[in-house]
Amino acid sequence: MANDTLTITDNRTGKQIEVPITHGSIPTSALRQFTVDENDPGLLTYDPALTNTASCKSKITYIDGDRGILRYRGYDIETLAEKSNFLETAYLIVKGELPDEERLKAWNHNITMHTMVHESINKFMDGFRYDAHPMGILMGTIAALSTFYPDAKDVQDLQSRRLQTRRLIGKMPTLAAFAYRHLRGLPLVYPRNELSYTGNFLRMLFKMASDYTPNPVIERALDILFILHADHEQNCSTNAVRAVGSSMVDPYSAVAAGIGALYGPRHGGANEAVVRMLEKIGSVDNIPKAIESFKSGEERLMGFGHRIYKSYDPRGKIIKKLAYEVFEVTGKNPLIDIALELERIALQDDYFLKRKLYPNVDFYTGIIYQAIGFPETMFPVLFAIPRTAGWLAQWAESIRDPEQRITRPRQLYLGEAPREYVALTKRPEPLEREDQVAEDI
Ligand code: CMC
Repeated sequence: MANDTLTITDNRTGKQIEVPITHGSIPTSALRQFTVDENDPGLLTYDPALTNTASCKSKITYIDGDRGILRYRGYDIETLAEKSNFLETAYLIVKGELPDEERLKAWNHNITMHTMVHESINKFMDGFRYDAHPMGILMGTIAALSTFYPDAKDVQDLQSRRLQTRRLIGKMPTLAAFAYRHLRGLPLVYPRNELSYTGNFLRMLFKMASDYTPNPVIERALDILFILHADHEQNCSTNAVRAVGSSMVDPYSAVAAGIGALYGPRHGGANEAVVRMLEKIGSVDNIPKAIESFKSGEERLMGFGHRIYKSYDPRGKIIKKLAYEVFEVTGKNPLIDIALELERIALQDDYFLKRKLYPNVDFYTGIIYQAIGFPETMFPVLFAIPRTAGWLAQWAESIRDPEQRITRPRQLYLGEAPREYVALTKRPEPLEREDQVAEDI
């Protein structure tokens, strides 16, 4: 019978070791036993961008990238999008099980009683420039929350973790809406807890002089989008939250780091970049030229490709359908025609097929957000709000995991050998070193 082990031979020394294979992985620390002499610290694995490294054990989200499957705590994303709502899904992600009626009521109450933010946060927000990107405002204000809740430092305490989780999920829409109102130069609208999570958010965003009643189709569409974005296992921002959280810093600081990671155009900033790209393409006639620039590497086809999905992102399918439900209320966003044609042409092209590049979650979301009336800079913010549930679940899982320690990867040092310090007046002319300085920077 086959052993669940891997035998590795170091051909430099002939040393052989046998390491256990558990859950399809080997503990790479075992390789440190391979040394060539007593000064050798041991063999490392080299994995830039961690493409083949499992950094944790997790019970939260399952993805099968080849078959396009996404599950939270064992439930298919399609089922949750159809039958659940965001706050219930957030409960599932954070606590591991779907709530019964009583627990859901208590959870909803516990989240909504934290929707207000300290008035000082508003003053702080006022200091941002009129054109500040709302993702930068969100990142800054979430980090600032850590100064309001010193109790959050007690990350080992279950009650404290629970409280910060409720606070963060509760306050995120309020801060996001405040960032939007700042952008528009509009007075802030305070939360109304009798509304749903997304209904309250829409009101805080769009209420003008008369009161605002959220359209139920838009309210539900946003809720579905929030379900779809709630977690996605070890993506860049979740990895950032876990890594920063591993220093045992408070969760506000860790989540602020996650927001920073999400902001980038290769991650959550892609939804914003997709709409800018579609606007730049401008018409279906320009698609073939655009496709050429994506293939030449001059630009990337934003909203396409994924590190894990090598088939259609299951979230993308739901979102594409949802777009038409939203357009029933808002009118059609003409960018959808360019997006559909772009997808059709790309999915017939060898370049994209060979590399298994399919539309991801961000390809159609921006088109919906734009139809609802969000400016492009708000799109990544709309990603950050629901992802907070996932970040906090992953953070708590990491804190509780006895195998986790402070995240501290290794490096392969390829720099200079020891050398003498040269006095300022004796150093070579800057011109002689220009190339190297440019590369170093
Ligand atoms: N357009 C054109 N070529 C692409 C694209 C794209 N969108 N994505 C990947 N490629 C090519 C890339 O040039 C490379 O080609 P080659 O093998 O010839 O060098 C090959 O495909 C593999 O790409 P990679 O960059 O090594 O793949 P990755 O797993 O490191 O990157 C990705 C994944 C999502 C960052 C990348 O596909 C990308 O930049 N996509 C566009 C941005 C985007 O839509 N991001 C949202 C991701 S999903 C939601 C989220 O995470 O927030």
